[in-house]
Amino acid sequence: MKINFQELTTAHPTNKTSMAKLDTVIVFLVGEDRKLSPLASAINKQSGGALLKAVMSPKFTGKRGQYITVIAGDSVKCDRIILAGVGSLKTLDRKALEAIGGGIVPQVNAVGAKSATLLLEDLKIPGIAHTEVAARIAHGVSLRAYFFGKYFTKKTADEIATFSGFTVALADSKNVTKFYGELEKLEAGIFLTRNLVNEPANISYPESMAEECLKLKELGVEVEVLDEPDMYKLGFGALLGVGQGSSRESKMVIMRWNGLGKGSKTQPVAFVGKGVTFDSGGISIKPAGGMEEMKWDMGGAGTVIGLMKTLAGRKAKINAIGAVGLVENMPDGNAQRPGDVVTSYSGQTIEVLNTDAEGRLVLADVLWYVQKHFKPKFIVDLATLTGAIIISLGTSRAGLFSNDDKLADQLYKSGQKVGEELWRMPLADVYDKQINSDIADMQNIGKDREAGSITAAQFLQRFVNNVPWAHLDIAGMAWTKKDDGITPKGATAYGVRLLNELVRDFYEGK
Ligand code: BES
Ligand code: MN
Ligand code: ZN
Repeated sequence: MKINFQELTTAHPTNKTSMAKLDTVIVFLVGEDRKLSPLASAINKQSGGALLKAVMSPKFTGKRGQYITVIAGDSVKCDRIILAGVGSLKTLDRKALEAIGGGIVPQVNAVGAKSATLLLEDLKIPGIAHTEVAARIAHGVSLRAYFFGKYFTKKTADEIATFSGFTVALADSKNVTKFYGELEKLEAGIFLTRNLVNEPANISYPESMAEECLKLKELGVEVEVLDEPDMYKLGFGALLGVGQGSSRESKMVIMRWNGLGKGSKTQPVAFVGKGVTFDSGGISIKPAGGMEEMKWDMGGAGTVIGLMKTLAGRKAKINAIGAVGLVENMPDGNAQRPGDVVTSYSGQTIEVLNTDAEGRLVLADVLWYVQKHFKPKFIVDLATLTGAIIISLGTSRAGLFSNDDKLADQLYKSGQKVGEELWRMPLADVYDKQINSDIADMQNIGKDREAGSITAAQFLQRFVNNVPWAHLDIAGMAWTKKDDGITPKGATAYGVRLLNELVRDFYEGK
């Protein structure tokens, strides 16, 4: 999606010379009062009252999420006019503005138009500058218009999406470009995450993902890739056991963004991602129905990689580590067996009772490595860790587990702000006891199926030592089956906006 900002005067529809410049599709915002803005009124007059009729139609109340498309007559120099309901101006916040932008996309595609222009007149929204309104709507358009179409060879252009250029015309368009510049870097990270996560597992595997990480070097990110011999030497028994049945070599990638300068001694913040490029379950194999969904099981790693791209892209003043454990979990003659005992990098031994509880095994070694080598200020890990978190929270909130109230609060607040929500779940000794093993330091599943997401988090906590840590179980959030708001179906890149905001609001420059 190409985004442009333009001075409103040059797009003024009542100006005879510029009338020819009107885009094929014009968008106006309409509030709950269903009053037409001055420009919309001018067009309404030109079109013999068509817009007024449309906003007064019984189903249109100006609520957020309502759109109505009017066919323009010959007297107006555009083909269609989309009226977008924005609801009450008092409750408009950045999330709502982005969602309004997102909702414009299917409307323009339904018309089959390539481009659209929003004529944005001054709206009095409490606490949000006019330039931000423009940038947020454009951001929403851009995020929703993302389309993973690389494997279609036969679909025609209009079966795919036609809409590819969005202009916002506003007074003061120069200042908005600066504001939007930062959002563009955020989009670049989100799109990288979505691309990585949408890719099927025959194309995206540990080594190919590591290569994608290496591309971040162009932005000044230091990237180190550990291969199997490296990890064997270090003693990564937990991670390597998971990848043992796969013909793809396991990798761990460490990305470093030193936004405070090369020699800076400031402790970094750290993000860790589960990158199981395909989770068949291993010998504890999953049922066939829905197994294809396990190509998404590297969603945590995808988010960490996209986040690093955003932080580096916008030159964030922070030292940040992104570390991902990349493995494929497959059954094979050499695969790990249920009952095997492995020794993790921390030295703790694990009885692997179920080879499908593999994400925690991967994270155990990566978490330990990150603490030992970087002494971070905090660690946030992201993982599509348990089906149980979807039973608990559904697909509207990720599970948040933390040993630190301050970090948990910061994460919660950032989530609320950007609309990537979290819900805090407990950690406690009663749950921890459930992963004690009869023959090793711990087992990788609980004694029964109770509290499955919590016992998984307790397992991770055994690899966390005196460092503020939060675990986000994003199993219900990494991908979506339906288009909604700013997110088209497929990979969501959940977490990139949340963690970018966390860094921005609480840690950057500090
Ligand atoms: N990757 C899955 C969890 C998952 C399930 C993510 C559904 C997204 C959607 C994870 O590795 C897994 O298989 N977990 C098991 C744990 C069980 C064996 C203790 C689960 O949730 O069933
Ligand atoms: Mn699994
Ligand atoms: Zn998994």
